[in-house]
Amino acid sequence: MTDSFTVDDVTVDRAGSPNGKAGGSADAVGRVAGTEDSTPLQFAVALDEDAYLQLDDVVVTLRHIPGLGPILTSGVVTQVRARHEGASFGSDVFLISDGVLPARVQEIAEVSTTRVEPEVYVPPRPGEVVRRATGAERAQALYFDQMASRLPVGRGRDGAPIYVNMEFLDGTRGAHVSISGISGVATKTSFALFLLHSIFRSGALGARAVNAKALVFSVKGEDLLFLDQPNVRLDDDLRTQYAELGLPAEPFASAGFWAPPIPDDLTGRPNVAGRTSGVEAFWWTIAEFCAGNMLPYVFADAEDERNQYTIVIHQVATRLRLDAVPAGDRGAVKIGDDLVTTYEQLVDVIAARLSDDDARSDWAGPVTGVGTVNAFIRRLRSSLRPLRPVIRADLTGTPRRLISTQDQQVTVVDLHNLHERAQRFVVGVVLAAETARKEDAGPGGLLFTMIDELNKYAPREGTSPIKEVLLDIAERGRSLGIILIGAQQTASEVERRIVSNSAIRVVGRLDSAEAGRPEYGFLPASQRTRATLAKPGAMFVSQPEIPVPLAVEFPFPAWATRLSECAAPPARSPAAPPADAFARLPAVDDDDIPPF
Ligand SMILES: Nc1ncnc2c1ncn2[C@@H]1O[C@H](COP(=O)(O)OP(=O)(O)OP(=O)(O)O)[C@@H](O)[C@H]1O
Ligand SMILES: [Mg+2]
Repeated sequence: MTDSFTVDDVTVDRAGSPNGKAGGSADAVGRVAGTEDSTPLQFAVALDEDAYLQLDDVVVTLRHIPGLGPILTSGVVTQVRARHEGASFGSDVFLISDGVLPARVQEIAEVSTTRVEPEVYVPPRPGEVVRRATGAERAQALYFDQMASRLPVGRGRDGAPIYVNMEFLDGTRGAHVSISGISGVATKTSFALFLLHSIFRSGALGARAVNAKALVFSVKGEDLLFLDQPNVRLDDDLRTQYAELGLPAEPFASAGFWAPPIPDDLTGRPNVAGRTSGVEAFWWTIAEFCAGNMLPYVFADAEDERNQYTIVIHQVATRLRLDAVPAGDRGAVKIGDDLVTTYEQLVDVIAARLSDDDARSDWAGPVTGVGTVNAFIRRLRSSLRPLRPVIRADLTGTPRRLISTQDQQVTVVDLHNLHERAQRFVVGVVLAAETARKEDAGPGGLLFTMIDELNKYAPREGTSPIKEVLLDIAERGRSLGIILIGAQQTASEVERRIVSNSAIRVVGRLDSAEAGRPEYGFLPASQRTRATLAKPGAMFVSQPEIPVPLAVEFPFPAWATRLSECAAPPARSPAAPPADAFARLPAVDDDDIPPF
């Protein structure tokens, strides 16, 4: 119970309303039905002939209890049925329509209770007037009145904003978001970005918005490389939709973009096609690879988990950390007498040490068998092609080649041109580094980390170093200030502990087999069915305080999601360094176009 809630508000509201059919209010839509059991948590509404309720409408009903006063029960419509009362046979409908047989069409809406104020759990009595909740009543029904800071996540079916309690997102009382839905129509990635936009621009974070950052791993095409550009489809209608949510219809103002370098290209240009400026190439030098203990992230596939060579991985990683001596200014190392300037050479040196009878016990552990060592070498060799582009010492780089969330609000790491094994490596290494940085820095700004296709990094089965990092974030991220926003086609394929640690769960369109799985148990049966019909832009959002997930529609992105949606070719990102840092990039005409 909260102070802000008074049943008096409601009484005033009712008194001020003109008379409606079901008694006393223009918002009245019917009465609590007496044909089915009315319970404190679920009741049915018989609708007035000229009234309607649709799924997700919010309703309230009041019951006076002598000695206790008025009890207000609010809820959300979860099903509506219409039938001919008095018809016994399918053919009766024709007779009834012709006026031959007397019958009446009756609509019944089922309501799931969201809130009872004061907390006296009595059933609404059949015959009580039920009203559509608007304004303050709607806010009370959906607990918006209790949210100290609330984040708009879209509009309800009634067109009014739906909020998520920021305390369940910023770590205060909970954290992490899990978004599921089928490819292409569930708009998972779009919703995740809309959420970031809302987090940064709605004011829900207050002064903390200044230090809040987002780290976004992009795995599908170049869609996210344009999020600092306005969308050409942005019109007044869309602007109004954003304005109604209290948000500006603007692209992300402060964004930095990273992509891997073009393989086998010695100029260190980023491997992107659509965007020609403002994208940095990222890679790690061999020296960083050795000193930073990055080898375990090379072995992060399901296949590696089945093998016995974990001890070899850690032994070799330790040797690299201790024995590799930096050489030259491009990040090469010397291991013994061997100069290593490419990932290939590094793999060769490791393989040579492991094959050498004298060095083996030092590099593989004293009791490791040759079979295990050979399995490790085979697996290491197979990482050559995937990882060669991002681990190197043959390029001259600027400090900006290292992915960092320091200098801009949104950091986009484009992984779509990388092999899956390299994608895992990058996500693992970057997240581990960010976690360590957060740990050192102590509580500070929030870092929202968006990972698409989370099932690839934290699958339900098995263990891997990346899954460890993600689990760590899921379990400790709240206190570290790292918030995970994970998207996946099927939540049933993602590590259970990550999904269960997510305070906010969102689903877009689901396929019916998936919708039946226990991971979606938080959706009432009717919403599970509806999720199989959800259109792009429609999501169901579940949050801890509200017992029923809320259906929302979020507006189309205000930022470009592909080159064709850019109003003009992207100019240099505002977060990018001064022009001379781009000296190594070839001149591109687009650079001359002034920012807009
Ligand atoms: N609010 C919206 N309303 C209508 N359509 C939208 C909305 N947001 C995005 N879309 C459209 O839906 C398409 C799919 O969106 P999105 O890429 O976010 O889906 P996804 O669930 O991430 O798919 P995938 O699993 O393939 O990554 C986009 O191309 C976009 O044009
Ligand atoms: Mg996507």
